[in-house]
Amino acid sequence: MLNYCIACDLTYPLDTNRMRCGCGGLMEVRADWKADHDTWRDRPLGVWRYREMLPHIDGMVPVTLGEGGTGLHRADRMAQWCGIDELHIKNEGENPTGSFKDRGMTVGVTMAKAMGHSVVGCASTGNTAASLAAYAARAGLTAVVVVPAGKIALGKLAQSIVHGARVLAVKGNFDQALETIGLLAEEGSLYLLNSINPLRLEGQKTLVWEVLDQLDEVPDRVVYPVGNAGNISAAHKALVERDRMGMLPRMPRLTGVQAEGAAPFARMMASGADTLTSEPRPETVATAIRIGHPVSWPKARAAVMETGGTVTTVTDEEILAAQRALASLEGIFVEPASAASLAGLRKLVHVREVDARERVVCITTGNGLKDPDAVLRTSEGAVIEVEPDPRHVRATLEAWS
Ligand SMILES: Cc1ncc(COP(=O)(O)O)c(C=O)c1O
Ligand SMILES: [Zn+2]
Repeated sequence: MLNYCIACDLTYPLDTNRMRCGCGGLMEVRADWKADHDTWRDRPLGVWRYREMLPHIDGMVPVTLGEGGTGLHRADRMAQWCGIDELHIKNEGENPTGSFKDRGMTVGVTMAKAMGHSVVGCASTGNTAASLAAYAARAGLTAVVVVPAGKIALGKLAQSIVHGARVLAVKGNFDQALETIGLLAEEGSLYLLNSINPLRLEGQKTLVWEVLDQLDEVPDRVVYPVGNAGNISAAHKALVERDRMGMLPRMPRLTGVQAEGAAPFARMMASGADTLTSEPRPETVATAIRIGHPVSWPKARAAVMETGGTVTTVTDEEILAAQRALASLEGIFVEPASAASLAGLRKLVHVREVDARERVVCITTGNGLKDPDAVLRTSEGAVIEVEPDPRHVRATLEAWS
């Protein structure tokens, strides 16, 4: 089991501190995986159910909070809202710290601890920081998290603080935060657990494997919100591995959605360019995907192209409308970045890039409770004050249109 450069095939040990090959290429874990359905059939759904297909070093003990095993909810009213026949929501907000990041973090922190690191760090738009802080606490490690000042949701900041992370707010955006902490990691001050770390992406493979195991048939399409592009890249790797093992009857189309103000990957794909032009000033209400230079873009490009998927953009208004629709039609409260997947699906159906007869899974990546401000800012008049008097309450309800 080794790290391979995806650009030049040079190999590095699993416990390397390097996050890129000397040639600048991204790395990925490759191994001679050996498993089949029988291997995990009797185990509960969750990340470690698939342990034979995850990184391993001698003596490692999983640092776990019970991550994965999130619900896959058939959502007929939301399907109608999007304009398709069959929709399922894989709700990653049900993870221990409220986002899909826990899947990568349980694996990343487990490996970091087994390698003997005592300090782990990340740059984050909020969820990675919250997740790292929790898993580092669980492992007894020190977490250093660098976030863009004033641009992360309050709930995520509170999570990082309460779990005891050293929280640094940079006067800059996520991309600058990542560059800064990346330099500290290269100096050896800490072990980096951003999604550029190939071990972390291994944990994130389990998301789409769970979808396959929860649905009775392979979906036609899986839709992801895209920020740094790690999650959609991990999905592709997961599907390719399952295919190689003869466990994937057909490949679902991987589809990415970016917010219009932070859409360098979508623009690259739309223009047919083969390199990414960064967005220097990314801006969106979906702060989790407010990223101008998605580091995993080469992997994500392959994910979309090799599965016949697509990438689209949505406005902040479309994101907030999708968030409200999902919450009010299905009872699922997600953060704005997560709602981008649904807003994107609706748009793709509308422009007929997605067929209404497709069976689609939308990934909702983070819990809405992390960012209540995003809802309250646009909810003026939603709460009506009443006297503690049944007549007044009745009259108010009768006047409700
Ligand atoms: C809630 C949420 N959705 C989506 C994303 C984007 O994931 P990725 O950076 O892997 O593309 C993030 C990443 O920060 C996130 O926190
Ligand atoms: Zn290389």
